[in-house]
Amino acid sequence: MQTKAIIFDLDGVICFTDRFHYQAWKQLADRLGIYFDEKINDRLRGVSRMASLEIILERADRAYTQEEKEAFTTEKNETYRELLKNMSPADLSDEVRETLHTLKSRGYTMAIGSSSKNTKFILERIGLAGFFDAIADGTDITRSKPDPEVFLKAAEKINKDPADCIVIEDAKAGIQAAKAAGMTAFALFGDARGCGLEDYDLLSFADLANVLN
Ligand code: BG6
Ligand code: MG
Repeated sequence: MQTKAIIFDLDGVICFTDRFHYQAWKQLADRLGIYFDEKINDRLRGVSRMASLEIILERADRAYTQEEKEAFTTEKNETYRELLKNMSPADLSDEVRETLHTLKSRGYTMAIGSSSKNTKFILERIGLAGFFDAIADGTDITRSKPDPEVFLKAAEKINKDPADCIVIEDAKAGIQAAKAAGMTAFALFGDARGCGLEDYDLLSFADLANVLN
């Protein structure tokens, strides 16, 4: 049994939901007449639903009440969940599936640390329900990444010291959160790679199995 644990971010690491986030936010932004593009969408990686809305509203020409904002995030989430229904185990790549199983067979404790409140639903859709030793997600936290709360919660659930946890992230906010938690941070894709705070830049998901033995 390994002493180390691996905490995986979900969106952008295990699976690719950003196109669905984009479509759902775009539908809302278009309805409100607010400019929104894929570049702005990139800024939403790792941040909570409400914080994402605040980023989108930077381009709005009027202010919205808290009540309106709550309604907007609910509307976006309903669209998003409809889109998530299109996901199936076929959306989990062979590379990710095989690497996860390899690491599990080597005795690593594995958890998810995601800002998403849809984490369990997504894991079910892609056939990973029950695979991880613990899940810490948007429903467990009050502060989203770059705050370390979600990773500290994951470490607590798997009973590991933060110093023994390796976080895999595609977002700079996630790398910041992992470092603030006192964990090792591996960057994969996105603005995590080369952000300057990461301990290691992974070449691919499968590279994890080469780096960790
Ligand atoms: C993160 C995504 O995993 O979850 C963010 O990278 C998203 O883009 C956040 O805003 C919250 O997701 P959800 O599913 O709770 O709206
Ligand atoms: Mg991510």
